[in-house]
Amino acid sequence: MGVNLVSGSVPRGNDYFGREAFIENLWQLLDKNNVLLVAPRRYGKTGAMYQLLDHPRSPYVPAYMNVEYLESAGDFMIELIATLRRDRHMARSVNALWEGAKGMGHYLRNLASDIELGDLKVKLREETDIAKNWLDYGSRILELLAQEKFNALLIIDEFPFMVHHIAKRDKAELSRLLRWFRAARNAPGTRTRFLLGGSINLVSTLDELHLVDTINDLSSIPLLPFDADTAHKFIESAMEAREIAVSPATRRRIIDAIGSPVPYLLCVLMTALSDRHRLTGKAITPKMVEQVFSQELMGRAAPYFCHYYTRLAEYYNDTEARQAKAVLGHLSRADRPIARDNLYGIFLRATSEKPSTATTERFQALMLRLENDFYVTATDGHYHFSILAVQLWWKNNYGFQHS
Ligand SMILES: Nc1ncnc2c1ncn2[C@@H]1O[C@H](COP(=O)(O)OP(=O)(O)OP(=O)(O)O)[C@@H](O)[C@H]1O
Ligand SMILES: [Mg+2]
Repeated sequence: MGVNLVSGSVPRGNDYFGREAFIENLWQLLDKNNVLLVAPRRYGKTGAMYQLLDHPRSPYVPAYMNVEYLESAGDFMIELIATLRRDRHMARSVNALWEGAKGMGHYLRNLASDIELGDLKVKLREETDIAKNWLDYGSRILELLAQEKFNALLIIDEFPFMVHHIAKRDKAELSRLLRWFRAARNAPGTRTRFLLGGSINLVSTLDELHLVDTINDLSSIPLLPFDADTAHKFIESAMEAREIAVSPATRRRIIDAIGSPVPYLLCVLMTALSDRHRLTGKAITPKMVEQVFSQELMGRAAPYFCHYYTRLAEYYNDTEARQAKAVLGHLSRADRPIARDNLYGIFLRATSEKPSTATTERFQALMLRLENDFYVTATDGHYHFSILAVQLWWKNNYGFQHS
């Protein structure tokens, strides 16, 4: 059979490959903790979350929501309550929020369970006071869920993006939301578990706002690229599904070209390779891998790589972004890891600063942030891009600037 390649949408069912040990680990962690799942874009976070959703384990009843575009605590609560209302197990708790209240209670009880999520959210916004009194609703819904026989498992995807948006609008509101949320997660008697996920670093965002303590109860678990063995099997399986033969040497070349087997990049490269094979009728060889990688991958996966660049302007302040671009531009041109001291020189030059204790500290903080945000990896005081393919893309597009 073999695995079907999806390039972009959430891999589910037979499209989802490997990660058995990771999913097992996630369930075990959730048994005792609320969990923060962190990984860069396109590593397979949402896919992993859907594994929990599609194959729930008793006593958990999972529900999934993506909060990437939400900008206020009220919207968050509307999203949460609407998501729960659409779940047949949890709808009862939601309806009980308006017990005794005529209008909304009656309306909600009689709603078809397949009401469109968007319509439901509009109703909740226009006809209830959730947006205003979100904190009360949040506490009450968790109390109601605690009375059920099952444990709700609320999977909240792209949580750090929402935090970032709310912070931009209203820092005090973010602080209220995060403090409430931390207390609610740890309330005595609560039976609800949370799995929060995201592709930007929550800790560095909250650090600047002095709010890190609001998430220090979460167990953090990183989602890494595939290991080499899984990557080999993934390539084998995907190519088998397309009835294309690939030798072990070709598989190795595919993995080495990307540098670090990010599932999405493997999918994109394999799709490009099988297209080339179909068009030319030629076998996929290590040489073809090299050609297709340099001629096509940078184009096909451009939005993936762009994210690394645009994120600097969005989530780093102007000075940091300038310095980060100088450091990354330099690293992109290097063919071996660069010593920290050299990078410090580049960092200072980017803003024409003199070395001082303050600049050393800011440099260290920036490098740590670039590491946490998955740009670079440090070993023995030397830095290099974490993913070779990202380095090449950076070099092609920005390597000649900011030097
Ligand atoms: N386990 C997997 N099996 C097969 N393909 C995978 C797997 N994990 C990730 N992928 C590939 O990566 C792509 C992105 O997966 P997914 O949406 O789960 O990642 P994500 O980390 O949530 O991405 P984003 O940060 O963009 O939300 C998929 O479309 C697929 O090409
Ligand atoms: Mg995702």
